[in-house]
Amino acid sequence: MQVAEHDVLVIGAGGAGLRAAIEASAAGVSVGLVTKSLLGKAHTVMAEGGIAAALANVDGRDDWRTHFADTMRGGQYVNNPTMAELHAREAPDRVRELEAWGAVFDRTNDQKILQRNFGGHKYPRLAHVGDRTGLEMIRTLQDHGIHLGIDVHMEWTVTRLIVDGGRVVGAFGYDREKGRFQVFRAAAVVLATGGIGRAYRVTSNSWEYTGDGHALAYEAGAELIDMEYVQFHPTGMVWPPSVRGILVTEGVRGEGGVLRNSEGQRFMFDDIPDLYKGSTAGDPEEGWRYTQGDKEARRPPELLTRDHVARCIVREIKEGRGSPHGGVFLDIAWIKEKLKDSEAHIRRKLPSMYHQFKELAGIDITSEAMEVGPTIHYVMGGVKVDGETQMSRVPGLFAAGECAGGLHGANRLGGNSLSDLLVFGKRAGEHAARFAGANPRGGASGSEDEQVEAATRDALAPLERQDGGGDGVGSYAIQSELQDLMQAKVGIVRSQAELESGLEDVLALKERSRNVSVAGNRAYNPGWHTALDLPNLLLVSEAVARAAALRKESRGAHFREDHTAKDERWGRTTLVVRKGADGEMEIEEEAVTPPREELQQIIEENR
Ligand code: FUM
Repeated sequence: MQVAEHDVLVIGAGGAGLRAAIEASAAGVSVGLVTKSLLGKAHTVMAEGGIAAALANVDGRDDWRTHFADTMRGGQYVNNPTMAELHAREAPDRVRELEAWGAVFDRTNDQKILQRNFGGHKYPRLAHVGDRTGLEMIRTLQDHGIHLGIDVHMEWTVTRLIVDGGRVVGAFGYDREKGRFQVFRAAAVVLATGGIGRAYRVTSNSWEYTGDGHALAYEAGAELIDMEYVQFHPTGMVWPPSVRGILVTEGVRGEGGVLRNSEGQRFMFDDIPDLYKGSTAGDPEEGWRYTQGDKEARRPPELLTRDHVARCIVREIKEGRGSPHGGVFLDIAWIKEKLKDSEAHIRRKLPSMYHQFKELAGIDITSEAMEVGPTIHYVMGGVKVDGETQMSRVPGLFAAGECAGGLHGANRLGGNSLSDLLVFGKRAGEHAARFAGANPRGGASGSEDEQVEAATRDALAPLERQDGGGDGVGSYAIQSELQDLMQAKVGIVRSQAELESGLEDVLALKERSRNVSVAGNRAYNPGWHTALDLPNLLLVSEAVARAAALRKESRGAHFREDHTAKDERWGRTTLVVRKGADGEMEIEEEAVTPPREELQQIIEENR
């Protein structure tokens, strides 16, 4: 058993984890950064189209207030208002800081950071680097962080948090290469593990996103909030099958891409939700037409919020107006009617999309339409944290980024994730360092030994069952069944009957997973890694299904065909809590903290 000791341990090395590690390290405490994968490989890179921040470089009318109001409206007013305010106020400084650290953004003609339109944002607000913004963010944070003396533990997976004397004091994990075990002792822990996308079949998330931080926090005594809200990004690739789910950035629509059905109709004109009917966007490029026959929109309807666009796409497909491979058409090539150098423009603004479609689907997006359909991209639900410090109800345990909940309410606006990572990654790092300074680590207690023994036993169990104890079911088979059932029964359009049946199926899989057996030994064994990810995937799936079954209305990303309307009685959040001696999962309802008066006024003025 190896032991590493740090003041602050950050688990996850995407944008939030890196930003937290940088801030904690700058505060003078020792920092360990654990990443399941290689440094630089994080879902942050899948936020391609930009960072939302009210810099007002393209439209001078923008300010933090409008960004705050847009975020609350997009989240259907169940967001944590403190987080939404801090996020909108601090995002511009975080973007400027990133630039000072070396991020190279696209520029306006007068050399300011360029901003583009995105869904649900009233003004062009997304600071971007072509369609590689997340990648540039990770590169910059890594370059900056590398000089601060952060200890990076690459390819280590944490399977358990160690809690002692009512606070978190460390973590237990294994290295993916050799299967060695390690205890990470720490005075404070920041979870920044991202999302839960691998619980579903069609997702933009890669293999790492198995709800680890959500599950670690829950098992340690924290609450999860808003787990029913799972975001389907409207545009993922649908063809060929091997690349189904890979993200097609909203930046395509931000650059003028339109959605059409098999009849050539811009179907997004058919259903503009009340909350967006009166919305005006700063249209930076005059001459763009927002009309379809006699229907007119005051901004491109493709840039409505993701929940709505995804559902409209599903409607077109279900009603037989889809594309040949089960999606709809996304067309950016049409801008040649408007721009002389459209081909060069598309390749400059969307270089990754150009290559992605050329290489993977044989499509030239400068002259042909893409086929796209919804893909699981993000979970709005996460660890319930204090809006200012990011600390959960477990002392010393912090969470930031996608694995923390509250900021986005029922639906996240595109681009608000990268700004979330920067704003709350910084805050989590700062407050974790402060906590560690005020509450130094004690010596190892007997309770640590017991917890480590139990964690070791649990980790080895799937390997030890290969000689007879298991039921012959492999870890991949269980994961695969889970992905299918979550996609089919806890997906984009939900009903009570399907949710209850989905929950039953998850619980049955949970039971079977107790007997999963894995062949081979601890070295280089992805089957074993999958077996150790399974409890987390099953836990978050159960949480999503239970919370969704409780919420009998439609709001944001949670759409019920048996309760299609929003119901004011349900303007509350759900909390997933561990109850009783056996640790039964229960869902509680909680009133949303009302915004203070000044914020409420901002909301009213921007309705
Ligand atoms: O479409 C995108 O580029 C994704 C952005 C986001 O999720 O924020």
